[in-house]
Amino acid sequence: MPPTNPLHETHILLGVAGSIAAYKALILLRALVREGARVSVVMTESATKFVAPRSFEVLSRQPVASTLFDETDPMPHLTLAEWADVILIAPATANTLVKCAVGFADDLLSTVVLAAQCPIILAPAMDGGMWEHPAVVAHVRTLRERGVIVLDPEEGELASGQIGRGRFPAESTILEAVKAQVCRVQDLCGQRVVISAGPTREPLDAVRFLTNASSGKMGYALAKAAVARGAEVVLVSGPTALSPPAGVDYIPVVTAQEMYQAIMSRFPWATVVIMAAAVSDFRPRESAAGKLNKQEWYGKTIELEPTIDILATLSRKRTHQIVVGFAAETHDLLTHGREKLRRKDVDLMIVNDVGSSHSAFGSDDNQVIILSRHGEVTHTERMPKIRLAQHVWDHILRLIQARPSTPALSCPESNPRT
Ligand SMILES: Cc1cc2nc3c(=O)[nH]c(=O)nc-3n(C[C@H](O)[C@H](O)[C@H](O)COP(=O)(O)O)c2cc1C
Repeated sequence: MPPTNPLHETHILLGVAGSIAAYKALILLRALVREGARVSVVMTESATKFVAPRSFEVLSRQPVASTLFDETDPMPHLTLAEWADVILIAPATANTLVKCAVGFADDLLSTVVLAAQCPIILAPAMDGGMWEHPAVVAHVRTLRERGVIVLDPEEGELASGQIGRGRFPAESTILEAVKAQVCRVQDLCGQRVVISAGPTREPLDAVRFLTNASSGKMGYALAKAAVARGAEVVLVSGPTALSPPAGVDYIPVVTAQEMYQAIMSRFPWATVVIMAAAVSDFRPRESAAGKLNKQEWYGKTIELEPTIDILATLSRKRTHQIVVGFAAETHDLLTHGREKLRRKDVDLMIVNDVGSSHSAFGSDDNQVIILSRHGEVTHTERMPKIRLAQHVWDHILRLIQARPSTPALSCPESNPRT
């Protein structure tokens, strides 16, 4: 198999649900293997009533997984979710489709879907009446809004003998969809990215400092997503409780000044810079080298001086870089975000609401407004930060592609596993 095939060595998790079309998944599995993909099959319990797992095991040369409580792997849902580059559920029953939309996790396949961060494709097959049922229609819409690819079933003769829309999509349609997602995985190939994350600490003495509540989760999610999509990533991080994502060049810093120096030294190299860090705007004018005791602190006035405005400085000094800023606001998000975008002269401003009970700081979920310098406004729904990171990257990618001198973006031969 030539390594230029986009599916070569790609990890495809093939989920098979309990449809009469389950036998067609065997033919699909053969085609994926022929394309050079490595395929692991997860069957629902109902699916095993239609086709014996052994058939899938022979064709994939892998054991079929169908239970959450496995003798050999204590957490198969996490192992499989992490292993997969793409999850393809084919055939997807109405039941499995609705479970994916709602977020049910009551068997191995649905739990893997909930744990996964990779692209997910559903190839539904069901009776025409089921496909058109308002419950299924609503859940298909939800899934598509969330970025899950739900292929349209085909029209024709159904298992009932009736003519309708509900037939398992053609093999070529499914393979194209998988290839498109695998290539999308690498759509940041050639990009050199610097991301700042977390808070900074501005020392008052040897043990005390000024800081803020930033957890770093958004910046780390952006770094993880960029690596997964093929970018080279430098993550400049203030102190957080997080482990750096695999594959990033990690530069820990403490103060705003250190963060500035770390970013500036990589700035000429970068094609994209994202300032997701919550950098202290001020620092104590003086800080003691040792620890001051209680008496020394008593009645003391702390004088503050501004730290360097890293975002504005980056924008001023940029030559070719796309610069993205984050704004943490408690009210009038749109007005303040627009004003900050203009003042800092950035390409995109991501506005966080840090005033509500669902504050962005520390949470695993977030909801933002994405503002572009051309006046586009995108309100996202509340979602896990890793999914939000993918949305932000989709916006940045559009800016990259709109540039005349874009570095080569399509690297079909640079599959993540080759
Ligand atoms: C003979 C037979 C054929 C079926 N075919 C389908 C089908 O094509 N699509 C579908 O959505 N459900 C179909 N079902 C119903 C599902 O098997 C049922 O909803 C099951 O709970 C699905 O479980 P799963 O989604 O966990 O695989 C069929 C059931 C039977 C008995």
